[in-house]
Amino acid sequence: MKIIHGIAELRAHLGGYRKPAFVPTMGNLHQGHLSLVRQARALGDVTVASIFVNRLQFLPHEDFDRYPRTWEADCAGLQGAGCDVLFAPDEHELYPQPQTCTVHPAADLADILEGQFRPGFFIGVSTVVMKLFACVQPRVAVFGKKDYQQLLVIRHMVRQLALPVEIVAGETQRAPDGLALSSRNAYLDAAQRAEAVQLSLTLRQMASRVRAGIQDVAGLEREAMAALAARGWEPDYLTVRRRADLLPPTPHAPLVVLGAARLGATRLIDNLEI
Ligand code: PAF
Repeated sequence: MKIIHGIAELRAHLGGYRKPAFVPTMGNLHQGHLSLVRQARALGDVTVASIFVNRLQFLPHEDFDRYPRTWEADCAGLQGAGCDVLFAPDEHELYPQPQTCTVHPAADLADILEGQFRPGFFIGVSTVVMKLFACVQPRVAVFGKKDYQQLLVIRHMVRQLALPVEIVAGETQRAPDGLALSSRNAYLDAAQRAEAVQLSLTLRQMASRVRAGIQDVAGLEREAMAALAARGWEPDYLTVRRRADLLPPTPHAPLVVLGAARLGATRLIDNLEI
């Protein structure tokens, strides 16, 4: 695996390839990320991953400096997953000046759910992904369904700006008990780790009641929030939405159930397509 820190060197190196397949990350990698890399390998003629902890997508109270940097393990994992090129710019390379030109995704998609609880988050994500796309110039990029709203925001950006990159979705990887793999799981203590599976169980129960034809979706959402709160969680949302645009359900629209909740100091998110 070739490790490249500079944009000019990256462009020169990738110039000879027809179809770079790209997986952007912030490092602190787990099997979920590595499955995206393995998926990308089958989609292009060179597989590129990036590691860049993007300051723009952290809120003031979210500690950018404490985000885990696990460089050696990340490199070993990417190498093992068959990554060809790791692009790892530092902040000076990617943001040589304050990034005042930013990408503002559509509010009806980006200001709800995660965007409601983390204002500006998708501006930070969209801006860095746009910039990484400008550096890597991929023909295909793989984003995990674990961050379902992020996947839709990026797809929308690519369509609206006519970017020549196909966005491919990667399935969420789960621990044997069903907990979605996430860098944040490392923050859970043993008791919290045992409890954490309740988020995916709750989403599964909601999904099966929607499949069974429940009409009172708002009631179902309230009930699910109350059930998690009673177990000591602080839920931000547990909600049934249309897969295409995350608006409330309409007849015959494919649906997804999404949740975000805090367990102690750790905020977990998950979703299930119904
Ligand atoms: O999903 C992530 O890890 C980040 O939001 C991304 C897409 C790498 C942008 O920083």
